Amino acid sequence: MDYSGLKIPNHVAIIVDGNGRWAKERGMTRLQGHDAGFENLVSLSKYILSKGVKYLSLYVFSTENFKREKAEVDHLMDLFVLLYRDKLREFMRNNIRVIFSGRDEPLPKKVLKARDELVRETANNTGGTINFCMNYGGRAEILDAVKKIVASGEDVSGWQESDFAKYLYQDLPDVDLMIRTSGELRLSNFLLWQNSYAEFYFPETKFPDFHEADFDRAIVEYTKRDRRFGGIKK
Ligand code: IPE
Ligand code: IPE
Ligand code: MG
Repeated sequence: MDYSGLKIPNHVAIIVDGNGRWAKERGMTRLQGHDAGFENLVSLSKYILSKGVKYLSLYVFSTENFKREKAEVDHLMDLFVLLYRDKLREFMRNNIRVIFSGRDEPLPKKVLKARDELVRETANNTGGTINFCMNYGGRAEILDAVKKIVASGEDVSGWQESDFAKYLYQDLPDVDLMIRTSGELRLSNFLLWQNSYAEFYFPETKFPDFHEADFDRAIVEYTKRDRRFGGIKK
């Protein structure tokens, strides 16, 4: 779709949700649902960044997702390794930089290794940034920032909010548009600090079916929103 006349958000965040229900509707296993979701992830990301979005945060695994059955967690970990390793060429071809937000513990070594390699290889790319939020929790991020600040011994008495933000996992601009697929109307601990003035969009579509035209609809809706940031409409 032609985006001229539309507002392009600087930072888009997506809660990748509904893989399990997508599979169930088709008589498939949850694991197959994740395969389909991951299949969609890179092509959709490429499209979004090609439209001028500079930062794309993708919530692919929460700290709470470790509560799931071992077989499902193991499968997701294998998918992460595949994604980070096998898609490297595609990220390079598209000039995409990849960064991560989340805790290391208790992610398997193979995932951390593939992650670190991808970050290193894509570090100088300039065609937009994907921030994978993996083993990510919004409260954990804020708590981890506080721990880092205390350990640094800094005097925080004169601090602005932006001084605090430097201690988050990544110092990124605020989220402009937050999309959660699959019709769930909650944040589930995602980017609590960065989403404070985001516009929310909740399509019913489950993630494996959320494609380019669905993102176009989100941008049309975002363009209509009147962002006031607490001020008065002129
Ligand atoms: C989201 O899909 C993917 C991850 C959490 C990694 P779900 O697995 O949450 O799918 P539903 O919500 O059960 O349908
Ligand atoms: C949030 O989705 C986490 C990710 C999509 C990675 P969940 O499916 O885990 O969230 P809840 O349990 O429905 O809140
Ligand atoms: Mg879910």
